[in-house]
Amino acid sequence: MAPKADSATIQMLSSVPIFASLGEKALQKIAGDAKERGFRPGERLVATGEKGVGFFLILDGTVEVRRDGKSVARLGPSQFFGEMALLDEQPRTADVVATSDGRCLVVSRWEFWGYLSKEPETIRVLLQETVRRLRATGPGFSE
Ligand code: CMP
Repeated sequence: MAPKADSATIQMLSSVPIFASLGEKALQKIAGDAKERGFRPGERLVATGEKGVGFFLILDGTVEVRRDGKSVARLGPSQFFGEMALLDEQPRTADVVATSDGRCLVVSRWEFWGYLSKEPETIRVLLQETVRRLRATGPGFSE
């Protein structure tokens, strides 16, 4: 059985938009299954082209998303990254590099699919944010 997560982590998870619809039991499971990982400024947490094995939720600190060496987004506490390669099972679309000291929770690909298969509201919010990201950096409409 997964170890019981501390109440600060549970409270943090309940404030994260993608997990806001989940009850205490589901949050306990996510927090207990996930691994906490610290990071240092300049550390690359995700590399373009790699196989995606985890979904990351930022607990503290900030990261930058870089495509072709250009910054496309900055993410901070309560925000996530690493969902795209898990959703389409294709290589990572960008580098994600820490821009401060921080910590994140890493959910394995296997656990990620397990939560999604049971939680339609989590899927909706996750897809909404993913589409927003694609609209922000993908090709626009051509008239
Ligand atoms: P993934 O492709 O698995 O790994 C790189 C991650 O960077 C990607 O998932 C998203 O989480 C994130 N990412 C890629 N493009 C953007 C963007 N335009 N805005 C925010 N995050 C992004």
